[in-house]
Amino acid sequence: MKNIAVFASGFGSNFESIVQAVNDGMLNCNCKVLVTDKANAYCVDRANNHGIEVISFNPKDYGTRQECEKMLVKKLQDRGIDLIVFAGYMRIVTSELISAYPNKIVNIHPALLPAFKGAHAIEDSFNYGVKVFGVTIHFVNEETDGGKIISQRSFDYVEGETIEQVEEKIHKIEHVLYVETLKKLLEE
Ligand code: GAR
Repeated sequence: MKNIAVFASGFGSNFESIVQAVNDGMLNCNCKVLVTDKANAYCVDRANNHGIEVISFNPKDYGTRQECEKMLVKKLQDRGIDLIVFAGYMRIVTSELISAYPNKIVNIHPALLPAFKGAHAIEDSFNYGVKVFGVTIHFVNEETDGGKIISQRSFDYVEGETIEQVEEKIHKIEHVLYVETLKKLLEE
């Protein structure tokens, strides 16, 4: 059975839905570890509730991103991690991590890439006035939000909806689409 590591920086609702899917037998893998750059984020409480190991680091403790990722790669390899799942991990990664896990790092993005890359995709697409919103899951490469697309799902904007309502729909789609996509990747 494959071992996955989930990387998250915040609320961790995608992490939670992945763990739930593993526990329900929908995903055939071990969710071995949560990696976070935010020791106080709610995703850490979620990991603790599920008895999942947390690797927490402060980027400021490392001279460079590469140095920090070298430490992470070692810890991931020690734990036999096969697949890395970014779920609201808000750091840009370098070739140090990517070359250690080629085509084995996936990310979820709350917009229809290649539109609205970056950390504020929902706000940016809402303010732009798009009529179709969506979610993208893609492989991580050295171009931020630029790796090969694995899956996407969209929905039409209903006139009058608030950003909060759109955001809720996006998160609901994310939780379903990530599990479906990971299921396929884990079967390959
Ligand atoms: C998700 O909407 C995810 O798509 C987004 O952060 C949120 C994390 O929510 N990621 C990005 O914007 C990456 N550029 P969660 O912590 O509740 O899973």
